[in-house]
Amino acid sequence: MQNFPLPRIDSDEELQKLLIPYCRFRKGDVWTDPTGKHKIGCLDAGDSSEISYLMGSELASLAVHDPPYNFVAFEEMDEKKFVEWSKLWVNNSYNSLMQNSSLYIWLGADQKNHFQPLPDFMLMMKTSDFNSRSFITMRNQRGYGTQKNWMSVRQELLYYTKDNPAFNVDAEYTDIPKILKGYYKFVGGKETENTERGKSEFIRAGNVWVDIQQVFYRMEENVNGCYAQKPLKAIERIINASSNRQDIVIDFFAHSGTTLLSSEINNRRCFTTDLSPVFCEISLRRLENYRNLGKTGWQNSNPFAEEILTDKKLKKYLNSILDLNSNNQ
Ligand SMILES: C[S@@+](CC[C@H](N)C(=O)[O-])C[C@H]1O[C@@H](n2cnc3c(N)ncnc32)[C@H](O)[C@@H]1O
Repeated sequence: MQNFPLPRIDSDEELQKLLIPYCRFRKGDVWTDPTGKHKIGCLDAGDSSEISYLMGSELASLAVHDPPYNFVAFEEMDEKKFVEWSKLWVNNSYNSLMQNSSLYIWLGADQKNHFQPLPDFMLMMKTSDFNSRSFITMRNQRGYGTQKNWMSVRQELLYYTKDNPAFNVDAEYTDIPKILKGYYKFVGGKETENTERGKSEFIRAGNVWVDIQQVFYRMEENVNGCYAQKPLKAIERIINASSNRQDIVIDFFAHSGTTLLSSEINNRRCFTTDLSPVFCEISLRRLENYRNLGKTGWQNSNPFAEEILTDKKLKKYLNSILDLNSNNQ
């Protein structure tokens, strides 16, 4: 890897402190795209006045949220608190969405703790004004597990709607091959098997997606330092199915800016927020990098590569943790 691999930024306070001087965001700031397309706010998803400040007088047709789960990735928060907090940003989403719009939420299910927070979150959604539409599973390539359990490779994605939005899935191309044979049906008096009936080798996207590669360091879209990046292909599938060109897409948990970048690529506008100035800066740099160089991420480098080369303190710190990591291996 060139220019230092970055460790997980969210769990390294010292590194965050060293990166802050290079961030154009402070709490409360909103960057407005000079082209008039996108907005990035260093704002709290749960704060209604901050979100209405972000939205101004505009409304979105699609929300794609990937909140921090209350296990593994983030500091432990109990399910009850997680759900109470979720109610706030779900409500803020409702108020930011137009009539006939869609809401997608990536959520975790801890198999060691009754699949929380998923079931409690679903029950909370029952009290909202959204309608439940689908429970999608995306298959991850890398799983975790032991010899004593099924390897955990699923990623849950919930789909809700406000009223009755359009759904453009027929236009959706997938790389999901027809795997299973044996579903026979008589067509024109002849018994046919399911793989001979359709012309395509692929099936349309149902609610199980097995054709999306999880982001890893060898992919161009990889953003080093971000631990929870969603694949562009997954966001693109959602955007194409549930919004139209020039529509506004909101994502209150930007992190590496995947929804922002996918909106740019697919001619949507994106209003996105993150509580952390560092992740707001990374999202903005990702957009600028794409606009300047056509690249979707940094693959073998990272968003702060130039600063690391010139900032001795930052370089020294990274060297020390890299040494630590290699000594621990
Ligand atoms: C799981 S990550 C999102 C990953 C993102 N979908 C991507 O592809 O990069 C969650 C993000 O939510 C941010 N976050 C946590 N609490 C927040 C809050 N109250 N308001 C806004 N953002 C928050 C974190 O800083 C983190 O970057």
